[in-house]
Amino acid sequence: MTAVLEISGLRKTYRGRKGVRKALDGFDMVVEAGQVHGFLGPNGSGKTTTLRTLLGLIKPNDGRMTILGQEVPRHLPQVAGLVGAIVESPQFFGNFSAETTLSLLADAGGVNPHRVPAVLELVGLRDRAKDRVKTYSLGMKQRLAVASALLKEPKLLILDEPANGLDPGGIREMRTLMADLAASGMTVLLSSHILGEIQLICDSVTIISAGRRVAAGSVSEVLASHTSATVKVRLEPGVDLPGAVAILRAAGAVIPSLEKDHFTVGNATNPAQITKLLAEKQIYVSELTPVSADLEDVFLKLTGTAPVDGANRQVDQVAAETQGGWGQ
Ligand SMILES: Nc1ncnc2c1ncn2[C@@H]1O[C@H](COP(=O)(O)OP(=O)(O)O)[C@@H](O)[C@H]1O
Ligand SMILES: [Mg+2]
Repeated sequence: MTAVLEISGLRKTYRGRKGVRKALDGFDMVVEAGQVHGFLGPNGSGKTTTLRTLLGLIKPNDGRMTILGQEVPRHLPQVAGLVGAIVESPQFFGNFSAETTLSLLADAGGVNPHRVPAVLELVGLRDRAKDRVKTYSLGMKQRLAVASALLKEPKLLILDEPANGLDPGGIREMRTLMADLAASGMTVLLSSHILGEIQLICDSVTIISAGRRVAAGSVSEVLASHTSATVKVRLEPGVDLPGAVAILRAAGAVIPSLEKDHFTVGNATNPAQITKLLAEKQIYVSELTPVSADLEDVFLKLTGTAPVDGANRQVDQVAAETQGGWGQ
């Protein structure tokens, strides 16, 4: 695969009245062609700084960046026509229609006016193209913004937090749009601090925390390399749950959570061991389900932005982090 975007060792320090702030601290990223790549990290982790630096809007202190094989910012003029980006949320005139807005932008950018109906169709705004922008939902305004970035038929589309503020319906529309664009051969890089829907939109991800890359790869790779074998165990009603937990712990099980009617075993590489150990004490399992971690769990673990779930988390928390197998 060819990399459309490569960043290595990117550093950016902001100097302000409050002193020096390291926004990027040796950040690396690779985005392969034809992918929808999620750029994920909590607020303040350096996503916008990275994207602004890539686009030549701010100057890095150090690092190397290439877009479509060209070193940037030095060769930005050569590739600028191939990159569509929305980094600040664009402001549109509410009294203009989407069609008028895009026609003006096409005209100003020297783009063939035939692109206007084409991009309106692409983002699903054709039916509302003649309505005034102030009558649009936030999702429609976001799609208009995407349409404006698509006018010049970019090979790489960069969107900073495109799902921000959208309701689930709007996010679903955005997701379909991204998939359509990737299917047409475009590479899409989208940043987000919200994980839920990203997992479904992206082929691959880079997770950033405090200005550094903490994980990268295909969504399935990232999930596989950062999850441990966790199973949920439910026992027959009326069975002494803490008693069962004590038996398993004595055998080395890690119990990340204990609820009223079930518990989880965090290091169950051999789940049969759970049924065997409990059955030996005449305790019978009524449900044993693998708990598949999602990207959100990995993100929270890596970036440390998890809400502290005090009641359950303190139990065996340290042991659970070690991910060691048990009961083999
Ligand atoms: N213009 C600026 N001046 C000073 N600090 C900034 C500026 N822009 C961003 N920062 C700081 O840099 C860090 C990264 O910010 P940002 O790139 O906006 O993160 P994100 O987009 O992931 O939320 C934050 O600590 C933020 O406060
Ligand atoms: Mg940002």
